[in-house]
Amino acid sequence: MRPSTIIETDYLVIGSGLAGLYFAAKASAHGRVTIVTKRGVKDATTTLAQAGVAAVLSDDDSLEQHARDTIKTGAGLCNEKIVNLTVSEGPARVSDLAESFGVPFTTKADGAYDLGLEGGHTRRRVVRVDDFTGAAIMDHLVETVSKIPNITIMENHMVVDLLSMAKYGKENACFGAFILDRSTGVMDTVISRATVLASGGAGKVYLYTSNPDTAVGDGISMAYRIGAEVSNMEFFQFHPTLLYNPKAKSFLISEALRGEGGILKRADGTAFMAAYSEMRELAPRDVVARAIDSEMKITGDDSVFLDITHRGAEFLKERFTNIYKETLRFGIDMTEQPIPVVPAAHYCCGGVQVDEWGATNIPNLFAIGEVSHTGLHGACRMASNSLLEALVFAGRAAERVRECEAHRPKEIIPWKSGHAVSSDEGVVVAHNWDEIRRTMWNYVGIVRSNRRLQRAMHRINMISDEIHHYYWNFLVTPELIELRNLALTADLIVYGAQRRLESRGLHFNIDYPEASPFYARDTRLRRGNGPNHKPSRFW
Ligand code: SIN
Repeated sequence: MRPSTIIETDYLVIGSGLAGLYFAAKASAHGRVTIVTKRGVKDATTTLAQAGVAAVLSDDDSLEQHARDTIKTGAGLCNEKIVNLTVSEGPARVSDLAESFGVPFTTKADGAYDLGLEGGHTRRRVVRVDDFTGAAIMDHLVETVSKIPNITIMENHMVVDLLSMAKYGKENACFGAFILDRSTGVMDTVISRATVLASGGAGKVYLYTSNPDTAVGDGISMAYRIGAEVSNMEFFQFHPTLLYNPKAKSFLISEALRGEGGILKRADGTAFMAAYSEMRELAPRDVVARAIDSEMKITGDDSVFLDITHRGAEFLKERFTNIYKETLRFGIDMTEQPIPVVPAAHYCCGGVQVDEWGATNIPNLFAIGEVSHTGLHGACRMASNSLLEALVFAGRAAERVRECEAHRPKEIIPWKSGHAVSSDEGVVVAHNWDEIRRTMWNYVGIVRSNRRLQRAMHRINMISDEIHHYYWNFLVTPELIELRNLALTADLIVYGAQRRLESRGLHFNIDYPEASPFYARDTRLRRGNGPNHKPSRFW
């Protein structure tokens, strides 16, 4: 085995989606950037994004209208200052993606952007590259970033824990991370002036999700462990329409289909959204996902159906090239038949609390993209506002990190595996992984209750105790690191949900079916003591 190394850099970026790569490109103008990513550089949630980036780019739209739609969808919890700054900086960031990185956004014959429409938006404002926007953005960002000499990309490396000055008896500040080289099993240390979490979300906490396998809540849990504030974890967004097919692993049927007239129907062909909202198929996602959940319970069917056949084959093949091809692979011709769809976990609206520069409460630790909680989304994220947020806050953080003053101890305490021995009990990890995801799906899903949440907390506490024992007694493996993070993220979601005694946006509890003005505030958790802080057990 090769010896451990210490790598020095100005900016350590954890994660390689839109937020991480855009930050790296901008920050490389004033410092060395090291990007650490768990798998390949393109194995990020951004790659799977179909619809696009929401921004005000047409004459019939306005910044005020974009802000109003975002705030309405956010059900009373958006931070208006953050909403206003995000929507106002959006158009310039989109132009930068097109001009500096060459992202070929789809245009109409007259050269104007061909904008999409999605739930919650009252105007067409989603700029896109056909229906594979995320993949196109990633291609162009990776191409640019890999040519910048100041940037190093470390693929197949996992962050195990962030390095904190508090461990050395000093004022807390982050100065890097322990990283595990997956190919050799060697634990290296990265020392950085600023550390930027861009590690994405946590959809894998649920059994059914649109997210890639990498989305296990790593950033949220490692930040929480060193004392960062985490907010609003109970607001987990379920996308209403994933393809329902046993062979299709988490393929999204973009909301843009409903934007172009797709109608949700029961198996017998009855359209049902009018009974749930006057905005019908274009109601915010929490409303549509709950409506589908309720229909599936009423009919006992395994899915509902999204019918867009009336738009005609020519339009559909051109507008939804990717979705048309993918669904056809599973034997569904969307030009002739409705698509079977079900809701699935999609986006973590909560995350590591940051200010308007992406800075956390821990000096020199930043969070950007889905891992963060900026206050933009409130209790329900409006479609395509997430890539917008990632861009705007990555750009802002790249400006702010240059002000960070380096902190580092005189001598670094190396990673200790204690009396660890190699484990042959991978089955324990697999079992716990599965149990967490099932528990979350069954008890902490679209519709919650006090009893279900209590049961979930009980199960997760037991699993967490087991992981703690297991984690410290055996050699650390990538699977174990992910399981530990998955369990803590699940714990924070349930903990938040148990403390919000109301229904609002994405959090619906049948024991408190109405919103309460008392809870028109964020749930903020910090490891340790205090009235609103989860008491630390062992994290
Ligand atoms: C979609 O294409 O429906 C996903 C867009 C989003 O989640 O913002």
